[in-house]
Amino acid sequence: MADIDGLNAPKEFYTDIPQKSESFYLKGSNSLDWGMKNRLSRIFNPVSGKTVMLAVDHGYFLGPTAGLERIDVNILPLIPYADTLMITRGALRTMVPPDTQKAIVLRVTGGASILTELSNEDLAVDIEDALRLNVCAMAVQVYVGSEHEHQTILSMTRMVDMGLRYGMPTLAVTAVGKEMVRDAKYFRLATRICAELGAQYVKTYYISEGFETVTASCPVPIVIAGGKKLSEIDALTMAYRAIQEGAAGVDMGRNIFQSVAPVAMLKAVRAIVHDNETPEKAFELYKTLKNEKD
Ligand code: R5P
Repeated sequence: MADIDGLNAPKEFYTDIPQKSESFYLKGSNSLDWGMKNRLSRIFNPVSGKTVMLAVDHGYFLGPTAGLERIDVNILPLIPYADTLMITRGALRTMVPPDTQKAIVLRVTGGASILTELSNEDLAVDIEDALRLNVCAMAVQVYVGSEHEHQTILSMTRMVDMGLRYGMPTLAVTAVGKEMVRDAKYFRLATRICAELGAQYVKTYYISEGFETVTASCPVPIVIAGGKKLSEIDALTMAYRAIQEGAAGVDMGRNIFQSVAPVAMLKAVRAIVHDNETPEKAFELYKTLKNEKD
């Protein structure tokens, strides 16, 4: 309790300065509560409004993917250069030091493997555990148009409801079934369904035609997955186009951790996302940093 003896009398009320009531910088997020915005601001840089998420959650259905055989060896050195780490709770608890200051996005769905029907996912983590781990968002896979569309959409809405209760954002990850066509029409449908049903941001793939219609018709921020490993210049070009066409960042995995110079690649991606650098200049940066390492 503060000592109440000898308190100074309040005297400066700045009556000529109206209290500011500023809108939140992130698309579609203005009506969210303080805690939710605070968590989102740890994911999306308040200056650029964008994010570089490093996705290393592949093991939840793929097992030890190339580049993720040893998260403690291969991934921990990359963490300082990402804005956010997207990871499972098992990998987080066993391999990431708890004194990390990095924002964590927790994978909270699961239930299938590459040996079975991938869309057969459900919630696999309780929100209490996400809160216990002090994460900044929960990632939920949504399979629009696949066999288990209904189940995965409702998993997302259940997580959105719980997230709203506790101030925890939900990232809806649009997963494309093998039988689906990856085009603007599909991604407009999938991302809009996720946003309308309450996801605070959505992850999808970049497509070369019509991506700007996907970002324009989705009322919340979109981040792109990297997808399969491309050449460095192709991956940087994809990231550049996505940002120029309205994406709020990337959630990139294989194109970073499978690169021969992952730190250089992560820094080059950052230049594109946060500094609007061109792919050519970012690639030059990548080569310079890679050569310094060699
Ligand atoms: C699926 O395994 C996860 O959602 C990944 O986080 C996502 O696919 C991004 O990783 P990548 O850039 O390797 O596609």
